[in-house]
Amino acid sequence: MEMYIGFCQFSVCWGDKERNFKKVENLFLEIKEIKSLKIIVLPELFSCGYLFLDEKEVSKFAEKVEGETYYFLRHLAKNYNSIVAGGFLERDNNNFYNSALIVAPEGDYLLYRKIHLFKDEKDIFEKGNLKLNIFNYNNLKIGILICFDYFFPEAARTLAIKGAQIICHPSNLVLPYAPLITQVRALENHIFWILANRIGVEKRGDKELKFLGKSQIVSPKGEILMKAEDEEVLKVVKINTEEANNKKVTDKNDLFLDRRREFYEI
Ligand code: ACM
Repeated sequence: MEMYIGFCQFSVCWGDKERNFKKVENLFLEIKEIKSLKIIVLPELFSCGYLFLDEKEVSKFAEKVEGETYYFLRHLAKNYNSIVAGGFLERDNNNFYNSALIVAPEGDYLLYRKIHLFKDEKDIFEKGNLKLNIFNYNNLKIGILICFDYFFPEAARTLAIKGAQIICHPSNLVLPYAPLITQVRALENHIFWILANRIGVEKRGDKELKFLGKSQIVSPKGEILMKAEDEEVLKVVKINTEEANNKKVTDKNDLFLDRRREFYEI
């Protein structure tokens, strides 16, 4: 299936959901003329920001799954005929998760909770406790990971084995490795990869983080189809999702069928 896929990269305003929603909606105007179905990925925790000093702050911005961020994503999905993925701070009873949603134009969705927590996230979030699942929409099979998950090849491989053609990757990158590693993840699994990072600096108490930008879309051959530097931008590229179904690297080698699981000790 031919379709556009893209990322929305911007500087998140800490603690200001309304302003972040406005920024994103302005960037979505870029694609208002594209009427066909698209997939657009927003950054990790795009609605509220990343650095939280204590549980009280986390609690203030946390939402149930079907909260403000879900309703905003559903609005974008419906109004721009898009499948939209993005991160939010989830509350489930007394637990907080670094979560993300993939939302379809009709409002159905898949919830994912980040399984590999990065650095100080370990102090405020629970580790994700949901299986790596695929969002099926018509003939599309879409997977999702959040930021630091890219460092663990098993996560992307699991989604690819489950049939993912495209991995959505909402991120708040601070280390420099993701552009390279996500290129490799796309190539080694023959899938498309949409890395959506944020930009800007967040300073909270004595903590300060600068986010990298460098969002990118990678093909199943590991080619960078589209990329950003450190600007606020929504970029799309046309792909054919069928390309992700072919796992052959030569006429005698198939990336999935040639696996030798009896030799892997993990
Ligand atoms: C990260 O996982 N936000 C680096």
